[in-house]
Amino acid sequence: MRQVSVLLILFYFASLATSCTEQERSSLLEFITELSYDGGLISSWENITDCCKWEGITCSLDMTVTGVTLASRRLQGHISASLGNLNGLLCLNLSHNLLSGTIPLELMSSKSIVVLDVSFNQLNGDLQELQPSALLPLQVLNISSNKFTERFPSSPWEVMKSLVVLNASNNSFTGQIPTKVCFNAPSLVVLELSYNHFSGSIPPELGNCYTLTSLKAGHNNLSGTLPDALFNISSLEHLSLHDNQLEGSLNGISKLTYLVTLDLGRNGLSGNIPDSIGELSRLNELHLDNNRMSGELPYTLSHCKNLKTIDLKVNYFSGELTKVNFSNLPNLKTLDLMMNNLSGKIPESIYACSNLTALRLASNKFHGQVSEEIGNLKSLSFLSLANNSLTNITGALQILSTSSSRNLTTLLIGRNFMHEAMPDDDTINGFGDLQTLDLSHNHLTGAIPTALNNLHFLSQLNISNNNLEGSIPMIGQLSTFPSSSFDGNPKLCGPMLAHHCNSEETIFSTEQTDNKVEKLMFMVAFAAFLCVGVLYDQMVLSKFIG
Ligand SMILES: *[C@@H]1O[C@H](CO)[C@@H](O)[C@H](O)[C@H]1NC(C)=O
Ligand SMILES: *[C@@H]1O[C@H](CO)[C@@H](O)[C@H](O)[C@H]1NC(C)=O
Ligand SMILES: *[C@@H]1O[C@H](CO)[C@@H](O)[C@H](O)[C@H]1NC(C)=O
Ligand SMILES: *[C@@H]1O[C@H](CO)[C@@H](O)[C@H](O)[C@H]1NC(C)=O
Ligand SMILES: *[C@@H]1O[C@H](CO)[C@@H](O)[C@H](O)[C@H]1NC(C)=O
Ligand SMILES: *[C@@H]1O[C@H](CO)[C@@H](O)[C@H](O)[C@H]1NC(C)=O
Ligand SMILES: *[C@@H]1O[C@H](CO)[C@@H](O)[C@H](O)[C@H]1NC(C)=O
Ligand SMILES: *[C@@H]1O[C@H](CO)[C@@H](O)[C@H](O)[C@H]1NC(C)=O
Ligand SMILES: *[C@@H]1O[C@H](CO)[C@@H](O)[C@H](O)[C@H]1NC(C)=O
Ligand SMILES: *[C@@H]1O[C@H](CO)[C@@H](O)[C@H](O)[C@H]1NC(C)=O
Ligand SMILES: *[C@@H]1O[C@H](CO)[C@@H](O)[C@H](O)[C@H]1NC(C)=O
Ligand SMILES: *[C@@H]1O[C@H](CO)[C@@H](O)[C@H](O)[C@H]1NC(C)=O
Repeated sequence: MRQVSVLLILFYFASLATSCTEQERSSLLEFITELSYDGGLISSWENITDCCKWEGITCSLDMTVTGVTLASRRLQGHISASLGNLNGLLCLNLSHNLLSGTIPLELMSSKSIVVLDVSFNQLNGDLQELQPSALLPLQVLNISSNKFTERFPSSPWEVMKSLVVLNASNNSFTGQIPTKVCFNAPSLVVLELSYNHFSGSIPPELGNCYTLTSLKAGHNNLSGTLPDALFNISSLEHLSLHDNQLEGSLNGISKLTYLVTLDLGRNGLSGNIPDSIGELSRLNELHLDNNRMSGELPYTLSHCKNLKTIDLKVNYFSGELTKVNFSNLPNLKTLDLMMNNLSGKIPESIYACSNLTALRLASNKFHGQVSEEIGNLKSLSFLSLANNSLTNITGALQILSTSSSRNLTTLLIGRNFMHEAMPDDDTINGFGDLQTLDLSHNHLTGAIPTALNNLHFLSQLNISNNNLEGSIPMIGQLSTFPSSSFDGNPKLCGPMLAHHCNSEETIFSTEQTDNKVEKLMFMVAFAAFLCVGVLYDQMVLSKFIG
């Protein structure tokens, strides 16, 4: 028996061709010579007769060219139709080049190609004109990150019955999302259309996409309501429709039980988060920011135990947050509830989320005091509680300076503590505070302490629009900031300001003594805690998590 199989194998190898065919060789040479820049490939190819041995070319055992993988070769020019002559070609990867023109019909209608990746080029032809007729084996089509501008074609998909992945994102396609895409391609798993100019509504026919796991059409011009049919695609794991003009509510979302990512941010959604959200136990990312959603956050949110990101900022959510038991969300890393209408105390259960790195509750109606438990958040790097109605600045400063994480780089707690007395310097001892300092719009008076000049870690400074006086030191850290850091202080002078110092003012500034250090420490804490507005807040967090 064994001898028989050895013989069979020998027979098999003896029958194989020893090199690619002349037709394949000349088709590949035609492709490369038609390019306006070949990235040096021709010189590596020309001395070798067997094209199966060429760089970027792969062949099957019987020496048929099956793969052309020439990604990231700086190729320029048009894609030659001659590649269509490679009758056994399965995979064509020309991604990350500078190719222009269109995809030849010979390739789009190839009877062999299974994977076609021309992403990250400068292709710009009209795909509408491509009308292959016979059924095609194409499974993966990646035309993303090109310069296609025309209406998105509807005809090619009619014969692409095997399509599994269609990625057309990051072009300038116009028109509607093709309605029959899943009717034609019943095995479609990934449909990516984001970053285009698609308009119209989301076609209810997408409900036929029984196998779809990823639907992304964010950053388009889609309008209308979320169709009920969308919630019928029960296989969905990633649904991303952010940055459109979609309306409607989330009722029905609980049917998407496999959902891992839900990003519907920056739309016109309304209604509340339904209690049934708790059925999405696999959810990792929840982005509903910048909509018109309202109501209370349901206690069932804490059933979504895998949540890592909750971003609900800029909505009309109201009521007390204490209903949600955050201790059930141990994986939470980012919680952003900025600019809502939430009230009550900051729930203690938040402090059980020990992996939290960014917490923003700014611009709500929270009251009460900062809890000592906040010290449990050892990974916390960004904390913003600005613009609420918190009380006890002395307590807050004590807690945050002694118990809070060494990893805290940004602390924004301004616009709270109305009419409270300022804490004394002892309260502030122990601060490690900060790379970012904003003292603007604060009615501060007096001179800039020289010691401020020694804060080498300080990378951003804004002490504009106060009533400071004296001169800005000409050497050291302060001299490196632009005039905008100091504007709006009529009594301040310095080399970067219109108001230059006379010699008397310069001498005054160098006479600052050591006791100014304490004054400085006070100013730093005062600034960080009291003076920062919401826009600035937004900027800092987007840098931090973006
Ligand atoms: C190809 O052959 C030419 C002439 O024999 C030689 O000059 C050149 O260096 C060879 N190129 C490579 C890549 O071997
Ligand atoms: C094509 O090549 C690029 C670069 O190597 C790679 O990132 C990409 O995954 C390849 N495409 C396919 C479909 O394998
Ligand atoms: C194009 O899409 C395919 C399928 O999703 C993917 O495997 C491939 O990596 C993508 N190409 C690039 C360059 O990312
Ligand atoms: C689709 O293309 C975009 C941009 O080219 C890329 O970021 C994304 O990862 C691609 N998706 C898949 C599934 O390949
Ligand atoms: C979109 O395409 C441009 C140009 O090809 C590219 O520079 C950019 O990285 C792409 N964006 C994404 C998200 O892939
Ligand atoms: C977006 O769609 C609306 C109609 O829903 C249309 O009036 C508007 O011109 C479109 N904007 C762009 C930039 O395509
Ligand atoms: C959702 O699917 C159910 C069951 O397949 C079907 O009866 C219903 O009509 C579908 N709803 C929509 C809006 O397509
Ligand atoms: C919150 O959940 C934790 C952990 O499951 C539990 O120990 C605690 O009792 C819950 N708190 C409330 C108020 O239900
Ligand atoms: C926190 O993160 C670490 C590492 O990312 C992980 O090992 C740990 O399980 C997480 N803790 C919880 C409670 O999820
Ligand atoms: C904010 O909540 C209060 C109750 O706490 C309610 O009276 C008010 O109408 C809400 N405002 C908005 C804009 O939702
Ligand atoms: C603090 O940050 C450092 C560096 O980013 C990281 O290695 C460390 O794990 C963080 N500490 C905690 C308690 O998360
Ligand atoms: C302010 O907070 C500190 C520290 O938590 C506490 O000792 C003090 O009693 C609080 N003061 C008031 C008025 O609640």
